[in-house]
Amino acid sequence: MIRPRTILITGASSGIGAALAAAYACERTTLVLMGRNEDRLSRVSAVCRDKGALVVVAVRDVADIDGFLGSLSDLDGKWRFDLAIFNAGIGDTCASSQQIESPQQVLSLLDVNLRGPAAGASLIADRMIARRQGGAIALISSVAAFVPLPIAAGYASSKAGLNAFGLSLNGALRRHGIAVSLICPGYVDTPMSARLNTFKPFQMQPDAAARAIMACITKRQSFAIIPMQYAIVCAFLKLVPTKFAVWFSSKFRLDASAYRSGSEPISDTHPGAPSSCPKLDNL
Ligand SMILES: NC(=O)c1ccc[n+]([C@@H]2O[C@H](COP(=O)([O-])OP(=O)(O)OC[C@H]3O[C@@H](n4cnc5c(N)ncnc54)[C@H](OP(=O)(O)O)[C@@H]3O)[C@@H](O)[C@H]2O)c1
Repeated sequence: MIRPRTILITGASSGIGAALAAAYACERTTLVLMGRNEDRLSRVSAVCRDKGALVVVAVRDVADIDGFLGSLSDLDGKWRFDLAIFNAGIGDTCASSQQIESPQQVLSLLDVNLRGPAAGASLIADRMIARRQGGAIALISSVAAFVPLPIAAGYASSKAGLNAFGLSLNGALRRHGIAVSLICPGYVDTPMSARLNTFKPFQMQPDAAARAIMACITKRQSFAIIPMQYAIVCAFLKLVPTKFAVWFSSKFRLDASAYRSGSEPISDTHPGAPSSCPKLDNL
């Protein structure tokens, strides 16, 4: 793929999205950066502008799906994205006092992680088809889509749904020259994973995750699990009978007692940004 010139990144105010924004920022590139937190978005924008990019900031809550779609439509009307990365997401688990997540938690997770990005991708896809100039769409999912997670059923199902949507969208858009990349990271060292008080094998830094995601998008890869170690683990997991996977997960209750609700503000002290990008250090 020729380097995209007009790029939408949702969830650009922190973690993987901020790292992607910094990695894509360069001269003759327009970045449309979306998130809810205006301060953090402006700090990311400043880094991207320093690298020569034209930056447009859009403060939007994905959970307000009509408002989100309206903004996407307006922004695409003006900037004509040739790459749209749907990365915004929340993580949440049930508290140690709960057996399962509350209905409200489940609804929030599905709105932000599945309904918003799926509807947004479909809106952008439709507009790209009408332009007849190809393009690319990337959906940031998770390896959580592949395993039963008793303390995070809402999160796991939101990502499993996004996987099903992404693979189907890919089939629909291929003949229009529009690539869909569905990317499932393992642990990435961001404010989201910092809330989870557990062992995090093969954890990547956000800048490494951003590079791996960019590589998938550039190669127009349909599907990727990053890093490679998780791709191997997931390949083995496919061989495990579902009945056994569910039984095993019921015996293993992750200690997530330090996990704060995904709707709470993200800590401003966690790095969650590329180490090569010092101005993002306190995002
Ligand atoms: N970190 C991991 O270990 C990991 C692993 C697998 C997959 N992922 C996925 O990677 C993506 C990015 O996560 P991250 O680790 O970079 O998390 P993060 O540092 O917590 O960043 C999440 C981003 O999503 C935005 N966001 C959250 N809720 C939103 C809403 N309602 N409306 C608009 N924007 C919203 C946040 O913006 P504001 O704060 O400005 O609202 C922030 O920019 C997510 O989809 C996540 O599920 C992460």
